[in-house]
Amino acid sequence: MSFQIIGTGRAHPEFVLDNEMLSKVVDTNDEWIVTRTGINTRYVSTDETITELSVKAAKKALVKASLTGKDLDLILCSTMKGDYACPSLACLVQRDIGADCPAVDLNAACSGFMYALDQADAYISSGKAETILIIAAEMMTRHLDWTDRATCVLFGDGAGAVVVRKGDGLKSIIITAKGDDQLLVIGNTFCKSPYGRQIDIDPEFRMKGGEVYKFAVTSVLRDVKEVMKTAGVKTKDIKMMIPHQANLRVFQAAKEKLGFTDEQLAVGIDHYGNTSSASIPLMLDELIEAGKIKQGDLIVLTAFGGGLTTGACVMKV
Ligand code: UT7
Repeated sequence: MSFQIIGTGRAHPEFVLDNEMLSKVVDTNDEWIVTRTGINTRYVSTDETITELSVKAAKKALVKASLTGKDLDLILCSTMKGDYACPSLACLVQRDIGADCPAVDLNAACSGFMYALDQADAYISSGKAETILIIAAEMMTRHLDWTDRATCVLFGDGAGAVVVRKGDGLKSIIITAKGDDQLLVIGNTFCKSPYGRQIDIDPEFRMKGGEVYKFAVTSVLRDVKEVMKTAGVKTKDIKMMIPHQANLRVFQAAKEKLGFTDEQLAVGIDHYGNTSSASIPLMLDELIEAGKIKQGDLIVLTAFGGGLTTGACVMKV
């Protein structure tokens, strides 16, 4: 297939929020959060903007790729909400890294990074681009209902970036969508128009955790099996599976059913919490930096989330 990853980067806010601190805000405790989710701490923005985190991650990825913004043909930003509805996050990153290529945001919730990889594949395969910067950046803590203990303990903020260039690293990729506004909803706040029909949309964060959990396990198993079959690879050929970091129990269940070992499973939810679409590129950069994933290794990425959306791929790093 079309591309190779040639640089990765990540950024997160400085402030670390632990479970103990959260227990002073809502009726929760460390034991519940750790056993139900695997989360110990998460990064929460105090005064960093999502643009600043994205630019930081992007610059690191460009340095590792030995490129500058001027070398890019396209910037794709996966985010549920940038600092503004307009200009897009991608356009602000383009400005701040000195690029002059087209730039656009896309929103596929927690699967957004997989959707961006799929779009990069299409652009590069068609010859419309050779070098693309992909950023996945989310500031989930801006959208939470901080009185709802069932959701506010789960999420954190962060940005991950990759630079991809024409090559044969990507072996297979799948993305899916199944429209649903019941299981996982983050509302919008709209201005009231004197002419338009007022749509009654709850601006808060709502999630039916148990149902999303079942959807997550089922879709990870389905998607990973499919991309591995298409790529013609077996579990033993894979160095690591990097799942969207939503719940340790989700990906441990999937790991066991797919026959991966503990060493093959990437776990970062303990210190990031759920950072939505940023979770996979955050992990990817961390694991490459730690030497746990090296050039030539085969990896599986798998994501699921609001939409409902899913995505998975097999690639050689
Ligand atoms: O990235 C987007 C995709 N999202 C996901 O993949 C999330 C998938 N779902 C999950 O991760 C889990 O369903 C949760 C972590 C959200 C919830 O875990 P659970 O094991 O499904 O718990 P539950 O919702 O069934 O709640 C069990 C109990 C309830 O009390 P009762 O009714 O049994 O008395 C909740 O009220 O735990 C209670 N509870 C809490 N207790 C302490 C819920 N939140 C908390 C909390 N602290 N923070």
